[in-house]
Amino acid sequence: AVLRARAAIAEHERTVPDFPKPGILFRDLTPVLADTEGFSSIVTALTHGCSGVDLVAGIDARGFLVGGAVAQELEVGILAVRKGGKLPPPVYGVDYDLEYGTGRLEIPASGIDITGRRVLIVDDVLATGGTAVAASKLMGLAGASVVGVAVIMELADLGGRARIAAELGPDVSLHA
Ligand code: PRP
Ligand code: MG
Repeated sequence: AVLRARAAIAEHERTVPDFPKPGILFRDLTPVLADTEGFSSIVTALTHGCSGVDLVAGIDARGFLVGGAVAQELEVGILAVRKGGKLPPPVYGVDYDLEYGTGRLEIPASGIDITGRRVLIVDDVLATGGTAVAASKLMGLAGASVVGVAVIMELADLGGRARIAAELGPDVSLHA
């Protein structure tokens, strides 16, 4: 499935230079996810070898698409990790630095208790790792622990893998 996913990404990915800022090569996976084979091979690849997970956290916004499907495959629930300002109070929130700019992630602090849950974080792209580390801190605030990070694509030059190992510990698995 990993090879089929890579082939689908190579075939369907759209790259846009200088978006959203000059010098950034924007990699748009929209056409890959809209492809039947692309979506299914990605979900299978991300699920493969995942064990000990009892909650998937999908990161706003493309992490929702893949995260929901991965959760279904793993037979666990899905938690939407929202960008700042989308949820009513009370929330848990973490501010973080991005490849370009800053961001904030939030989850509800009421109505759901994820204490002790073992979470797989799912997102579309891993770049500097800032988003994944912020999502992981958020899970920590809510009393859950992160056991893995799964992304469709890793931009290997930006050091996300090393940062996840350094900040989340070597036991957190990375599926990319
Ligand atoms: C992109 C991408 C990841 C993140 C990875 O999201 O979807 O979430 O950057 O970068 P990092 O590893 O350096 O944190 P972005 O915040 O740009 O916005 P979007 O998901 O709303 O498009
Ligand atoms: Mg994102």
